[in-house]
Amino acid sequence: MGIEQYLELINTTKCIITKQQRGLICKQILKRGKNCNVLVFGVGNDSIIWNTVNQGYTLFIEHDIKWANAIKQKVDGIQICHHEYLTTCDPKLPIHQQPPVDEKALISHSMPQQLREKKWDVILVDGPTGFDDTCPGRTLPIYWSSLLSHADCDIFIDDYSRPIEFIYTNRFLFHKYQKYRLFEERWKMLWLKAENYN
Ligand SMILES: C[S@@+](CC[C@H](N)C(=O)[O-])C[C@H]1O[C@@H](n2cnc3c(N)ncnc32)[C@H](O)[C@@H]1O
Repeated sequence: MGIEQYLELINTTKCIITKQQRGLICKQILKRGKNCNVLVFGVGNDSIIWNTVNQGYTLFIEHDIKWANAIKQKVDGIQICHHEYLTTCDPKLPIHQQPPVDEKALISHSMPQQLREKKWDVILVDGPTGFDDTCPGRTLPIYWSSLLSHADCDIFIDDYSRPIEFIYTNRFLFHKYQKYRLFEERWKMLWLKAENYN
């Protein structure tokens, strides 16, 4: 695929993540060439972009098996690891009323083995759903990202301004990074920048 086809895919795919965000995530992926390992929490209509643009290995983690199967029909060769989170969240509670972070509880949830098998270059936390108290929320993806991250890993946390994403990112990830960028659209996306790629 040439650069024009990439641009068309990035610009024409109908999804929630903005064009600017899609472009910047793709730039980070393309910079790394054929050996890039990309980990994406949450499958969406944008999954085709990350899966196509990355010339290396891309793994998606998805809790909704029906939705994962629907996307598998649409995106050739997509690798989706089904994972049922046993967590709950209540994003309607403001930050100061959220239950305290319980690291022991987080440790008690085992991480899918596939996540440990690669050194990830780009991680996108865009799932599971976390819009109400029926959703698993992103406590574990953020916590696991902190265990898997390293200085040369770019991490994108979507919906960073929601209470759970905000609390867990600040507790487990933010302090590890010197450089970041905050996108102001919707619930905000936070980009924690890899040291030697930015
Ligand atoms: C927050 S969405 C990701 C949205 C994506 N970044 C986009 O721009 O379209 C991720 C989660 O929402 C759920 N989801 C997203 N789109 C869906 C759909 N059309 N139908 C059912 N579930 C969906 C999935 O379970 C997934 O884990």
